[in-house]
Amino acid sequence: MTPPPPGCASLGAPRARVPSPLARSGLPLRLLLLLWTVAASQGHPRNGPRISAVWKGHAGQDHVDFGLAEPHTVLFHELGSSSVWVGGRSKVYVFDFSKGRNASMRTVNIVSTKGSCRDKQDCKNYITLLEKQGEGLLVCGTNARRPSCWTLVNDTAELLGERRGYAPFSPDENSLVLFDGSEVYSTIRKQEYNGKIPRFRRIKGEIELYTSDTVMQNPQFIKATIVHQDQAYDDKIYYFFREDNPDKNPEAPLNVSRVAQLCRGDQGGESSLSVSKWNTFLKAMLVCSDATSNKNFNRLQDVFLLPDPNGQWRDTRVYGVFSNPWNYSAVCVYSLGDIDKVFRTSSLKGYHSDLPNPRPGKCLPDRQPIPTETFQVADSHPEVVQRVEPMGPLKTPLFHSKYHYQKVVVHRMHASNGETFHVLYLTTDKGTIHKVVESGEREHSIVFSILEIQPFRRPATIQAMSLDSDRRKLYVNSQWEVSQVPLDLCEVYSGGCHGCLMARDPYCGWNQDRCVSIYSSPKPVLQSINPAEPHKGCPNPKPEQAPLQKVSLAQNSRYYLSCPMESRHATYSWRHENSVEQSCEPGHQSPNCILFIENLTDLQYGHYYCEAQEGSYLHEAQHWQLLREDGAMTSHLLGRARALAASLWLGVLPTLTLGLLVH
Ligand SMILES: *[C@@H]1O[C@H](CO)[C@@H](O)[C@H](O)[C@H]1NC(C)=O
Ligand SMILES: *[C@@H]1O[C@H](CO)[C@@H](O)[C@H](O)[C@H]1NC(C)=O
Ligand SMILES: *[C@@H]1O[C@H](CO)[C@@H](O)[C@H](O)[C@H]1NC(C)=O
Ligand SMILES: *[C@@H]1O[C@H](CO)[C@@H](O)[C@H](O)[C@H]1NC(C)=O
Ligand SMILES: *[C@@H]1O[C@H](CO)[C@@H](O)[C@H](O)[C@H]1NC(C)=O
Repeated sequence: MTPPPPGCASLGAPRARVPSPLARSGLPLRLLLLLWTVAASQGHPRNGPRISAVWKGHAGQDHVDFGLAEPHTVLFHELGSSSVWVGGRSKVYVFDFSKGRNASMRTVNIVSTKGSCRDKQDCKNYITLLEKQGEGLLVCGTNARRPSCWTLVNDTAELLGERRGYAPFSPDENSLVLFDGSEVYSTIRKQEYNGKIPRFRRIKGEIELYTSDTVMQNPQFIKATIVHQDQAYDDKIYYFFREDNPDKNPEAPLNVSRVAQLCRGDQGGESSLSVSKWNTFLKAMLVCSDATSNKNFNRLQDVFLLPDPNGQWRDTRVYGVFSNPWNYSAVCVYSLGDIDKVFRTSSLKGYHSDLPNPRPGKCLPDRQPIPTETFQVADSHPEVVQRVEPMGPLKTPLFHSKYHYQKVVVHRMHASNGETFHVLYLTTDKGTIHKVVESGEREHSIVFSILEIQPFRRPATIQAMSLDSDRRKLYVNSQWEVSQVPLDLCEVYSGGCHGCLMARDPYCGWNQDRCVSIYSSPKPVLQSINPAEPHKGCPNPKPEQAPLQKVSLAQNSRYYLSCPMESRHATYSWRHENSVEQSCEPGHQSPNCILFIENLTDLQYGHYYCEAQEGSYLHEAQHWQLLREDGAMTSHLLGRARALAASLWLGVLPTLTLGLLVH
């Protein structure tokens, strides 16, 4: 592996996990601490948010097993319903996650009709598409290499017949199918053996069209969407993909990320060359890089479109998850208005004459065909010069992180004071989901992470994720399980009223004596999400005391105490008797505030308190008592205790190293 560029060095250090005395004492480790380096959008990298709480869910109620492995799945969830459909091997699973009881599962078999398969695997019917259709669902699958569709109504499947373009011949293909009313677009090959070059097609509705084979190089399709613009004839299809970089310079990245546009009303051209091709194709590069730290994220992983609440299509936010060759990731946010503007105004790469009229990529009213000259210029110069850059004055990522994020969905929500938050749910390559809050306007946005969600009983790659913003649930599946995750997980925050408020989870607040969801409580709950707001409103001004934990140590031993810094706004201090022995300000490099005791003296035995101070509010996070080791202990045991203390000491070293690197 090539070493990371200098700017990435700090992120390249191994993840430091400090063995906490909490874990050693056998107490339930409720809080999993992870170091999460996230840079601020303002351009100066900041040791950022950390994940301090973890949610796991209950078997049966929150996650359900298929009963066998399903290596290829497709998930369908209809907004507002409690059901989830998952297409697997020759069957469709139907789950019902009704409130307050275990989820139910039933299956509908959809076995292959006769096909032209060779081996047993091949002869299966891998379901690859589930789509709402009238009363029921449209179900399409490989059907033993004879792609076909069925309708599924009331748990009964009825064969519609062979449907090429709706499902691939084998399951692991690069397929995207987009429905819009009676129109269907697809990237799936229609021929099994010829036509190896992937194309974006219109397969139903108006005249069938496909992309020229020269306009994309080995594309990997990520997401497609239809955008209804101000005039119907101007409606666009945008699709996001990666392709091989035409720039073969050894310094250049292998892949580039793109957005392409097509006019929905495209009727194909007039000449024999252009007749069944899209005549309005253009593509642009999607940039996600931080110029100040020279970090580039070239590999688009996923895209989520968050429509504007006022229905302004230009203000639709396009969230892209990108990664770099070291599998670190970044989230960049674009606007559809900016994407549209790039295609409307940019010149074409490599084309130096005057653009023909109408200009390439322009949608024409009244089903007018695109003149052949315009088609020829666009077809031979499909890329625009201008690149699509992230929103905001600095055009930088919203944040970047050392985690390898793969999928994203975004929930726009309103806290109890009416303030709007965009909450991102990002899947990691470890099968977990990180909840990240983006608050405030883009120019002054702050990003902070608050929770790690472990949706499955058995950790596994998340194959699909679907957001239900009406019911405020997330649906995810792996090859083994399906899980429903509530967005308002408030019971995970410990520490009473102050702990609840300090988590800054916009979905949660304090009501009477519990940390509750703002949706479940009829009364206005106590919330303080804005860092500038002191949360003086907690009913009990004196926070609960942390439970006392004890450890016996020999004199002259080395030891350290570690206190997780759960709040990103508080100053954490270790207090012994009446003196502060160690103080960690917000923005401290390590996720823990650590007090080192190099050589335990007589005076250093006793009580240690870790206190979090935020404004006028003080929270006792930990309380330890260092006890004198029993003098009667055999030298053998004493030796072991010493060795243990020393090894714990060593465990801290990576954290220190990392701290130095970050400086
Ligand atoms: C719910 O499912 C879990 C795990 O499958 C099981 O242990 C539990 O007994 C179930 N509860 C009910 C009420 O069926
Ligand atoms: C499906 O079931 C519902 C209710 O049981 C019934 O009203 C409807 O007619 C059924 N549809 C079909 C196509 O059988
Ligand atoms: C990107 O680069 C990788 C590694 O060289 C290559 O295998 C892949 O085909 C490229 N293209 C895309 C679209 O990912
Ligand atoms: C990055 O992630 C991909 C897919 O998860 C994996 O195949 C690859 O080996 C990883 N690369 C590095 C450098 O870790
Ligand atoms: C700790 O202090 C004692 C007494 O002051 C000294 O004898 C001993 O060498 C010290 N141990 C270490 C590891 O520095």
